[in-house]
Amino acid sequence: MIAVEKTSKSGWEFTGTNGEFKLKYPERSSFLYFPLVNEGGMMSSVTPNLHGQATSGHNTFLTPPLSVEDLHNSRASRNFWVYIEGKGAWSAAGNSARQHAQAYESTSDESELEAGLLWHRVTRESRELGIKAQITSIVPCGQDKVELMQVVLTNTGAAEIIITPTAAIPLYARSADDLRDHRHVTSLLNRIYISAHGVEVQPALSFDERGHRVNHTSYGVFGVEGEGRTPVGFFPVQEEFIGEGGSLDWPEAVVRNLAPQTGEEGVHKEGYEALGGLRFSTASLLPGESRSYVVILAIESERIDIPGLMAKYGSAAAFDVLLEENKAFWADKVNTVEFHTGDHAADQWMKWVTLQPVLRRLYGNSFLPYHDYGRGGRGWRDLWQDCLALLIMEPADVRSLLLNNYAGVRIDGSNATIIGQQPGEFIADRNNIPRVWMDHGAWPFLTTMLYLDQSGDLDFLLQEQSYFRDSFMSRCRERDASWDAAGGSHLQTSTGETYKGTILEHILLQNLVPFFNVGEHNNILLEGADWNDGLDMAAQRGESVTFTAFYGSNLYDLSVLLRTLQERTGLESLELAEEMTLLLDTLEKSLNYESIIAKREQLNLYYAAAPNKVSGVKVTLPIAKVADDLAKKAEWIFNHLRRNEWVQSDHGDGWFNGYYNNDGDRVEGEHAEGVRMTLTGQVFPLLGHAAAPEQIPHIVAAVERNLLDDNIGYRLNTNFGGIQQNLGRAFGFAFGHKENGAMFSHMTVMYGNALYKRGFVQEGRKVLDSLYKLSANFELSRMYPGIPEYINEQGRGMYTYLTGSASWLLLTMVTEVFGVKGRLGDLLLQPKLVKEQFDEQGKATIKTIFAERMLEVAYTSTGSRKYGEYEIHSVLLNGAEVTLQRVSEGIVIPRSILRALPEGELHLLQVALA
Ligand code: G1P
Repeated sequence: MIAVEKTSKSGWEFTGTNGEFKLKYPERSSFLYFPLVNEGGMMSSVTPNLHGQATSGHNTFLTPPLSVEDLHNSRASRNFWVYIEGKGAWSAAGNSARQHAQAYESTSDESELEAGLLWHRVTRESRELGIKAQITSIVPCGQDKVELMQVVLTNTGAAEIIITPTAAIPLYARSADDLRDHRHVTSLLNRIYISAHGVEVQPALSFDERGHRVNHTSYGVFGVEGEGRTPVGFFPVQEEFIGEGGSLDWPEAVVRNLAPQTGEEGVHKEGYEALGGLRFSTASLLPGESRSYVVILAIESERIDIPGLMAKYGSAAAFDVLLEENKAFWADKVNTVEFHTGDHAADQWMKWVTLQPVLRRLYGNSFLPYHDYGRGGRGWRDLWQDCLALLIMEPADVRSLLLNNYAGVRIDGSNATIIGQQPGEFIADRNNIPRVWMDHGAWPFLTTMLYLDQSGDLDFLLQEQSYFRDSFMSRCRERDASWDAAGGSHLQTSTGETYKGTILEHILLQNLVPFFNVGEHNNILLEGADWNDGLDMAAQRGESVTFTAFYGSNLYDLSVLLRTLQERTGLESLELAEEMTLLLDTLEKSLNYESIIAKREQLNLYYAAAPNKVSGVKVTLPIAKVADDLAKKAEWIFNHLRRNEWVQSDHGDGWFNGYYNNDGDRVEGEHAEGVRMTLTGQVFPLLGHAAAPEQIPHIVAAVERNLLDDNIGYRLNTNFGGIQQNLGRAFGFAFGHKENGAMFSHMTVMYGNALYKRGFVQEGRKVLDSLYKLSANFELSRMYPGIPEYINEQGRGMYTYLTGSASWLLLTMVTEVFGVKGRLGDLLLQPKLVKEQFDEQGKATIKTIFAERMLEVAYTSTGSRKYGEYEIHSVLLNGAEVTLQRVSEGIVIPRSILRALPEGELHLLQVALA
C-alpha cells in the first residue's frame, strides 16, 4: 500500500459571506472541534469524526464528558454505521477501526468539512466501497435541548449496493462527576426504554456531590429515515452492541450485521451502560441513488414527549427548514457588527471572533473539549469583560445585567466569586479556601464607563443596589462568626435591614479600598492573584504593580466622571455610607500616602467601622471634594509608579516592573540569569494614564526586544527559568505554554488596544495583525477561524472559542480601529485605519449599533490612506450633510441627531477622509 500525504496543511478557506469555510481532510488535524449550541441550554461540540460531546450542564451529560485528548483516544463517540452487503462495515463518520488503520494509506476516505454559523457538515467518500455520506449537524436554535444530525448516503459506485445503516450514540446520561466516581455503580441506575423511534434513558437516581436523589432528567436518541419511517429495531445496551471482546469502533452487531432488538415498548433493561443504537431497514441503493436519515439527541427534565419531538424534528423536510432557520438566526446575531476592509478573509474571520463572546455567554468557561474544568459558571472578571462585547452586540440587555452584577460587591471592596444561574445571583461559598483576586474590583468601572459612553445614561450611577455578604470579611482576612447562611447574603445595617447604596458608591468602594491595601513597596497587594490566575503563590508579600496602575487610572477617571456628573446634572453632593469617609481621607485630614503604615492603619479603621455590616447612616459629601480626593490619590499613584517602578534597560529603553514576589523582591529587570519582563506589567500602565507619553516608545521597544517571538508572537513573559514558588503556579507550566510565556491572546489584544488608545497606531496594528496571522496560519495553529485563548510554543491555537480576548478584539476593532465610540452618549468618530485596511476604492466600512440605531459608517479616503495624514473632511448622514463638531479626537455627532432617525432601518454615515 502506498502511504499518502492526505493532510490539510493549507488550511480552511472562506467560501461565503457569512463566515462559511471549508477544509479538506479535516480529521487529519488533531484537536479540532466545532461548537453547536442554543439559548435553551443545549451545548454540543462536534469533531470531523463526529466525536465531541452533548450536554445541558455539569450534571446532565448525554454523551460521556471528555477532555481534548479523548477526541482521538476514546472510541465513545457519535457514529453512523453502514453495513454493505458483500463488503462489510463502514463508518459514515470515519470512525471505525478499519478506517483508522487505513488513515495513512491511499485507500483512505476522501473527506471535506464545510461549516458556517452554526452548522457543521462533513462529506466523506470511500472510493473503494463506492459510497458517500454527508452528515450535517446542528443544535436547532430555540429552547429545546436537542442536537440533530442528518445523514445522506449516496451510492457513488457503478453497481447497486445493499446497505444496512445503524446509528450508534453512547448514552452516558448522568453527571460529569460520575466519570471517575462510580462510573459502574451509576450505570446500575439506568432505566432504559425503547419506543418506535429510539432509546431513552432515565436513571432512577442520581449519585453525585449533590447527594443521592431521585432523578428526573431523561436522555434519548431517536431517528427516522426519510420523511418519517421508523427504525426497524434497537441496540439499547452498549455491551450487547459491541459484543464480547468488541468495541465501539468495531462493534459486533454491525460487523456481523446482527439483528436488533425489536421488542415491546416500555422498559427494556435496567442497569447497563446505554446506547442510542438505532437500526434502519436494509435497502438497495442504485448507482447515484441517495437515502437520508435524521438522528435526534435530546435531553429533557422529565420523560421525553416523543410524539411531540418527532413532530417537530423527525423528517428530512423539517431538518432542511431548521438548518436554514439556524443559519438565519446566527447570521442575524453575528451581523449586528460587520466589517468591510481591504482583506475579505480577515473580515470573515472577524465574524467568528464576533460569535465568540456569545459562545462564552452560553457555555461559560466549560463544556468544550479544551475546557475540561468548571461547572459552567463564569468568574467575576469574565462576567464583566464579556459585557464589553455584549454592549456592542446586544446592548439592550446590558443595563440590567450590569446593575445585577453590582449586587456581588462586598463592603470591603471585594466580591462574591460563585455566580449563580440567575442574573444578580451570587452564592456564599461556605467550604472554599478564602481568596481574593485583587484585580476583580478594577473591571466593573471599565465596563460601566463603556456603558456610560455608549448610552449617556448617567442616572445609572445613582441607581441603588444591595451588597453581597458571606462569612468572609476584611478581604478574606477574617471570618464573620456571626454570619449564617439563613441570614441571607445581602449586607445588612445594624438594625437588620438590607442596605442599599448607589452604583457609584459600589464603584468607589471597589477602587478606594485597594488604594490603602498596599505591600511593603507601597503598591497594591497581589492577594490571591490578579488577572493572571496563575500568580497565586505570593499572597502575603506579593504586589501587583500593574494593577496598581489600573486602580490609579480608575481613580483618575472617576474623578473626571464626578466632575462631569456635577456639570451635566447640577448634582452638588453625594450620599455615601458614613463609614466611607474613612477612605476619603483628604476631606478631613490628609494621610501621608508615602506611609505604608498609615495606609494600612486607615484601612483597618475602615474594616472595623464596617465589619460585614454598616450603620445604615449616609453622609452627604460635596461632589467636588470627593472628585479632588480621587484625583489626589490617582496622581500619587502615577508619580509613585513613574518614580519607583520604571526599569531602565542597558539597551536604552525601559519598562514598568509589574510585580513583587512573596519574598518582597522586585520581579522584573535585567538580571545575570536573563531578562525578566511581563507583558501584563506594561499593559495596564499603557491602557490608563500611569505610563507618561514619553515612556511609551521605550516600552514598545522593550516589548519588541524581549517579548516578540517571530514564531509565536508577543509572549506573556520572558523565560524566568524556574518554578517561582514565591510567585505562582503559572511558572510550573512549561515555558511557552498558557500563562507562562505563551502568546496569551487576552493580554496581547489589550496591549494592542492600549497602543491604539495612546495613539501608537502602527504599533497597535502590528499587534492585532499578529494575532490574526497566528490564528489563521492553519499549518501551525490547527484551529478553525476565530481567536484562541493562547498560541503555544508550537504555534498551535489552544482553548479555542471560549476566551475573553474575543470581546476585547471586537471592542478594539469597533472603538479604536474604526473609531466608532461613545462619548457620554454622543457618537465620536475617530478612525485609526491604516493603508492596508482600505479596499481598492479607498473604502473601509463598519456596521454597528449605536444609540439603538443600526449604522453603517463608510469611510472613504480620497487622499493619503496613511494614518496621521488624513482627517475627517465631511460627513453625510443618509445623504444629507452633517454640520461637523470637531473635538481634539475627531468628530462628534450628537446623540439627538441619531435618535431622531427611525428605528429598525440601516442608516448610512458616509465619512470622507482627506
Ligand atoms: C482566562 C480566564 C481569565 C484570566 C486569564 C489569565 O482567559 O478566563 O479570567 O484572566 O485566563 O489567567 P481567557 O480564556 O478569557 O482568555
